[in-house]
Amino acid sequence: MKNVVITGGCGFIGSNLIRWLLEHRKDWNIINLDKLTYAGNLENLAGISSTRYQFVHGDITDKACVQRVIQPGTHYIMHLAAESHVDRSIMDAGPFINTNVVGTQVLLDVSRAAGVQRYVQVSTDEVYGSLGATGLFTEETPLSPNSPYSASKASADLLVRSYHHTYDMDAVTTRCSNNYGPYQFPEKLIPLFVSNLMNDQQVPVYGDGQQVRDWIHVEDHCRGIVAACEKGKAGEVYNFGGEAERTNMQLTRRLLEILKKPDSLIKYVADRPGHDRRYAIDCTKAKKELGWKPEVTFEDGLARTVEWYQQNASWVERIRSGAYREYYLKQYGGR
Ligand code: NAD
Ligand code: TYD
Repeated sequence: MKNVVITGGCGFIGSNLIRWLLEHRKDWNIINLDKLTYAGNLENLAGISSTRYQFVHGDITDKACVQRVIQPGTHYIMHLAAESHVDRSIMDAGPFINTNVVGTQVLLDVSRAAGVQRYVQVSTDEVYGSLGATGLFTEETPLSPNSPYSASKASADLLVRSYHHTYDMDAVTTRCSNNYGPYQFPEKLIPLFVSNLMNDQQVPVYGDGQQVRDWIHVEDHCRGIVAACEKGKAGEVYNFGGEAERTNMQLTRRLLEILKKPDSLIKYVADRPGHDRRYAIDCTKAKKELGWKPEVTFEDGLARTVEWYQQNASWVERIRSGAYREYYLKQYGGR
């Protein structure tokens, strides 16, 4: 059996990863360490009753707590816990530095002391900054983060790099494009727009809506994280993307079509400060070295995702009726 600690397992990607692992890695014991911030939701793991799964409520910046979870005999750490929303980082960078940078340092120190076999840092393509109309991010693209969120993720990636270089720690870093799929907190574009449209509410498009994102289904990302853990080379970075570039307007119009809603529900609002124009990923290295490729087409994945939100409207509603409402009013209320 392999003993694996996943941080942030109650969030969007972490919960999908845990479900995937319980199904596909029957010889893995999983401990999920999560603080249950506004984005962490135990409901995301509802129905899991495996003896190979355990939840620990705790903060990755709390060293004593992390030491209780990561012990000699822990094989892998998959570090996903983070403050993850760019707009919130623009409102207040503090929690991003604390969790994303300090939390990563604590995990690295404890993992090193416990002799963990491999540490996996789950990062983002946003650390590379913004592209013009052409070109793709490769693993060699210089880090050039533009938001407090991406700066905190880039800082964490550099800490990981330094621990490998200085202490010869076995660590790999994954950098992935925009994920979509079930259990994504409805503050990110796709679940926010789908849930607004389901309620016949307008969707707030930032600026001219011509920004480009590459969309990857969360299941493809989860397979990538596992491939990097099992087959990646220590000290290396692996990019993952869905090879599905869309402008925000193309995506918005597609969602209107799928949900059969009128164009009048589009509302142009002030642009995000420092908004990155285009992200696009070259994932040749992951294909060649890990034997990975994206398997879910965007059309199919998006249709299935919309269907999931329709079938789980009460999951969305329970989130929208809570503390999230305050953030929503602050972010969009005055526009
Ligand atoms: P999320 O916001 O949905 O979930 C984050 C989880 O981390 C939550 O369960 C939260 O409770 C937990 N958490 C936050 N602070 C914590 C702390 N101090 N201690 C313990 N737990 C804490 O995020 P997500 O979208 O699932 O992203 C997961 C990871 O993947 C993040 O590191 C993010 O940077 C990265 N990533 C996300 C995307 C994307 O499109 N969502 C793309 C690339 C990379
Ligand atoms: P988001 O889901 O926040 O991901 P990221 O900023 O990490 O790429 O946003 C995706 C794109 O959608 C980004 O270009 C910002 C834009 N966007 C809007 O136009 N309106 C919104 O309300 C949100 C949340 C995002």
